[in-house]
Amino acid sequence: MAATEAAITDDTVAIVGSAPNFPHGLVDPIDELSELALSRGIGFHTDACLGGFVLPWAEKLGADVPPFDFRLPGVTSMSADTHKFGYAAKGTSVVLYRDRELRRHQYFRTAEWSGGLYYSPTIAGSRPGALSAECWAAMVATGEDGYLAATREILRAAATIRDGIDRIPDVEVIGDPLWVIAFRSESLDIYRVMDHMSERGWNLNGLQLPPAVHICVTLRHTQAGVPERFVDDLEASVAEARGEPDTSGAMAPVYGMAERLDTRGTVEELLERYTDLLFKV
Ligand SMILES: Cc1ncc(COP(=O)(O)O)c(C=O)c1O
Repeated sequence: MAATEAAITDDTVAIVGSAPNFPHGLVDPIDELSELALSRGIGFHTDACLGGFVLPWAEKLGADVPPFDFRLPGVTSMSADTHKFGYAAKGTSVVLYRDRELRRHQYFRTAEWSGGLYYSPTIAGSRPGALSAECWAAMVATGEDGYLAATREILRAAATIRDGIDRIPDVEVIGDPLWVIAFRSESLDIYRVMDHMSERGWNLNGLQLPPAVHICVTLRHTQAGVPERFVDDLEASVAEARGEPDTSGAMAPVYGMAERLDTRGTVEELLERYTDLLFKV
């Protein structure tokens, strides 16, 4: 809160908070942040891309979900990804505004074009209607019952995984997450653990600053025995990583290098060159 407050200048138009953030699955203190925005007369955006279709259901199921949405008077806009836990295809994610006046700022319109009057509600302009229809169908087909059932299973699997990590020495869960669970280690190279999990068939996300790994629990992980297998495999991977040098392995050196490079500009240039390669014909 103090850092956010200190970062506000006369040019600040909005504060952004996560519900939750991607790396650690933690929800920012949206109530305090949005009050701060309100007191400064600026906007507040809740990034609920990851949590927009989980947190409301989790709250209904009795989970401890802090307030993050338009019920807080300072929240002026929100985003939610329909293609994540909304179970629709990519391309229909939504931005929501508290009122029409604010929404108007995203429109493009001109009355002076030789092609006639032109208006477009979105920056992208042309959009595929089929995707919107598919998204609507996915939501109607899933329904509130479907979302509640999916969320119940995800929270159950995540609790098993989280409790399991808590029991393994040398690794610790970061914060108090619901279903995106990040863990780190003070005593061993966590990227080595990630490599050993990859060898066991787990595709986990490596995090940095600080070094950590996360699992985002989805419906796929709710199948019988999967959360328990994750815990067993993690226990075995941690045991393997104990005492190993931190310079070998598949991804460990890559993450280790990115973590240690003191010139982050170099890393960003590498990412730029890599993106160039993707466009190469
Ligand atoms: C917390 C969060 N915000 C936003 C996004 C959306 O990012 P993008 O618009 O680049 O797809 C994601 C996607 O994973 C996310 O997890």
